[in-house]
Amino acid sequence: MGSSSATTSSSSGEGGGEGAAMVGRRRRKEGLGWIEWGRGWCGVVGEFLFQRIAASHLENPLPLPPLDGTTFVVTGATSGIGLEIARQLAESGAHVVMAVRRPKLAHDLIQKWQNEKSEMGMPLNIEVMELDLLSLDSVAKFADAWNARLAPLHVLINNAGIFAIGEPQRFSKDGYEEHLQVNHLAPALLSMLLLPSLLRGSPSRIINVNSIMHYVGFVDTEDMNLTSGKKKYTSLWGYSNSKLAQVKFSSILYKRIPAEAGINVLCVSPGIVHTNVARDLPKIVVAAYHLIPYFIFDAQEGSRSTLFAATDPQIPEYCGLLKADEWPVCACISHDCRPMNASEEAHNLETSQEVWEKTLEMIGLPLDALEKLIEGEEVQCRYGSKPE
Ligand SMILES: NC(=O)c1ccc[n+]([C@@H]2O[C@H](COP(=O)([O-])OP(=O)(O)OC[C@H]3O[C@@H](n4cnc5c(N)ncnc54)[C@H](OP(=O)(O)O)[C@@H]3O)[C@@H](O)[C@H]2O)c1
Repeated sequence: MGSSSATTSSSSGEGGGEGAAMVGRRRRKEGLGWIEWGRGWCGVVGEFLFQRIAASHLENPLPLPPLDGTTFVVTGATSGIGLEIARQLAESGAHVVMAVRRPKLAHDLIQKWQNEKSEMGMPLNIEVMELDLLSLDSVAKFADAWNARLAPLHVLINNAGIFAIGEPQRFSKDGYEEHLQVNHLAPALLSMLLLPSLLRGSPSRIINVNSIMHYVGFVDTEDMNLTSGKKKYTSLWGYSNSKLAQVKFSSILYKRIPAEAGINVLCVSPGIVHTNVARDLPKIVVAAYHLIPYFIFDAQEGSRSTLFAATDPQIPEYCGLLKADEWPVCACISHDCRPMNASEEAHNLETSQEVWEKTLEMIGLPLDALEKLIEGEEVQCRYGSKPE
């Protein structure tokens, strides 16, 4: 939570004048208010307590349509929700690219799945490509390698994420706070750079595995990298802010993609899920996870909302309705596979625009990158051109 303070920076664009001066004098929000904060935590606790009841209408595993002829890139497919997503998509006939930082582990998993499936005589169409989200060079190289195939991409699932609970603040070699980089900046760069392939696969989708925790996040666009020291760093803060930044960026991305391009952008809440994301929790909390299985989803249950967002035929219609609205524009799917509202803070158009611009700057893309990529033009990225 935070207060507001006067600021002299204008965010109303060029032109100056009285209007701009008024905006410039407007008190800049520096954190969530008590009411927003309280409501956010009620949302988080509510999801924890009632997710199983809310999702009781869903089958487990979620039945998927036949997916032959479609290609999915799934990041972080070696563990938890991503592993389930990749396996189930491949078993439904999709071509799946496991985009992972530990290729050997992914190959072992494929071998295991193939062995299980070969008894039924169904080879899986699944491959591995290396991707380390802690390196923006790695992201750009992954996108270059994929785009060079000139193949269509139907769905990009930005699943990989970290929540380094209780850990001190850490920065990537690119200089960015690690939650911000892995959960927001790297997926944003991947989404942007894969637009040419997503256009080839249109109608296509970008699915961001987000979190109800974005409800308690706040993005200070003057301190996205959390280095000002205005507030004491906690991993909870880093995580929830990174997830909120992703919702805000996704909103503007979706708003700016022309409808004719046929690329839908969604954020998904998987629920509270028992995965390796809790690996850094104190041992006592990990033990508590095992004691409360009624409340917590297993990874297969936690994969349902993402699989729904990635494959349900009604998703384009839902996204289209939101796109036609002035605001909100970011489609969000809840852990029970129903549309959900992003947090109040996520609906702030002005700061979402600022997050969009700051993000592009941080990932080394020009402000008109989206328009150029949609037009099929080359875009220079600061990352990926030099050997690592
Ligand atoms: N579990 C929950 O309750 C929950 C709730 C809300 C949202 N989510 C979100 O769901 C997503 C999946 O998390 P999970 O719960 O399935 O956690 P998980 O079991 O820890 O899986 C995370 C995956 O991300 C990968 N990853 C982490 N850092 C990476 C990097 N630098 N480059 C490439 N891949 C990286 C991991 O790879 P390694 O195996 O190599 O580390 C792993 O495959 C995350 O975005 C998370 O924020 C989870």
